Amino acid sequence: MTIRPLRFGIWALVHGSRAAYQDPEEPYDASWERNRDLVVAAEALGYDSTLIAQHTINPHQEDLDQLEAWSAAAALAALTSRIEIIAAIKPYLYHPVVLAKLALGIENISRGRFAINLVNAWNRPEFDKAGIGFAEHDARYAYGREWIAVVSRLMQGERLTYKGEHFDVRDYVLRPGSLYRPRPLIYVGGESEPARALVADHGDVWFINGQPLDDVAGLIADVAARPRATVPLRFGLSAFVIARQTRAEAEAAYQRLLDLSKKDAPMKAIQKQNTDPKAVMMQTMLKSARVGSNGGTAAGLVGSYDEVAARIQGFHAAGIELFMLQFQPFEAEMERFAKEIIPRVRAQSPAGDKLAHPAGSR
Ligand SMILES: Cc1cc2nc3c(=O)[nH]c(=O)nc-3n(C[C@H](O)[C@H](O)[C@H](O)COP(=O)(O)O)c2cc1C
Repeated sequence: MTIRPLRFGIWALVHGSRAAYQDPEEPYDASWERNRDLVVAAEALGYDSTLIAQHTINPHQEDLDQLEAWSAAAALAALTSRIEIIAAIKPYLYHPVVLAKLALGIENISRGRFAINLVNAWNRPEFDKAGIGFAEHDARYAYGREWIAVVSRLMQGERLTYKGEHFDVRDYVLRPGSLYRPRPLIYVGGESEPARALVADHGDVWFINGQPLDDVAGLIADVAARPRATVPLRFGLSAFVIARQTRAEAEAAYQRLLDLSKKDAPMKAIQKQNTDPKAVMMQTMLKSARVGSNGGTAAGLVGSYDEVAARIQGFHAAGIELFMLQFQPFEAEMERFAKEIIPRVRAQSPAGDKLAHPAGSR
């Protein structure tokens, strides 16, 4: 397997803090202004990518603010110049023709830095209460498979006629296509068998939830072995980082967040009720105590600066190219990571890793 140079990204804070909502060091804030400043600061610190999750309502507590992903992505595209911008998308919420048009718009505003993250949904009320209906887990993936086939071909400038179970698109072409490359990148987040089949057939990068190295290596081996029509699949990992000078300091910071996160228990109980029990991602996350979403600290990036840098190298050797990171308090810890960890990791990497590389280059 060819392992590409490492890239580091940050999760935007579209629904506020990632580890614990009631943290005196990070008051609740999911505003556009905060997210704008966060991503602009991340770019200045050298981060390569940002992931903007998509939820129409806050998935933890519906009366809390939730930033809209696609309008934020377009605005961030105009305000930044180097960082890759990935916006998540749940197929049932947008017709594929409309979504492909939006994606190409942001691709060109960003001058070739845009990507979509196809996600399958787990929060039942988000669809149910809108009257869309919440199809069964594998039926959602079957719909997503048709949907991405249409989006992908339209994004690449093809004049498309497509007739499937869900879509009937005739002689459709979108102009302009990407002015910078064949099309925006396609990431896929999801761990179940249909998610793996879908990313092997239609994705450029598979996003894996934070979990121990051996588990991640097993997932990569499974999906990398699947036949593909195009270039090899690439891999990204979500992880929550707690790095300090010493391991004891990091453990204390972890304990602080773990204790604070217990205050969110009532909110988490509601979230559990709303979650599709077949979502494999949620089953993975129940395996260990952790803070952060999408696996969070289960990836093991908690420790001294040297330990965290070494673990990142381990994941990189297993095939992870992009680390999509969470912190709390986010701004300060994101800065610490850029100053303490990224230089350590780069110093241990082969020479190629030290070279600048264009965000999201194919
Ligand atoms: C990196 C990553 C990002 C995700 N972002 C979102 C998101 O923005 N919105 C959402 O509803 N679900 C998101 N998900 C969850 C997936 O949509 C999906 O529901 C979940 O992985 C369950 O699917 P599975 O059974 O295939 O694991 C994300 C998952 C991953 C791994």
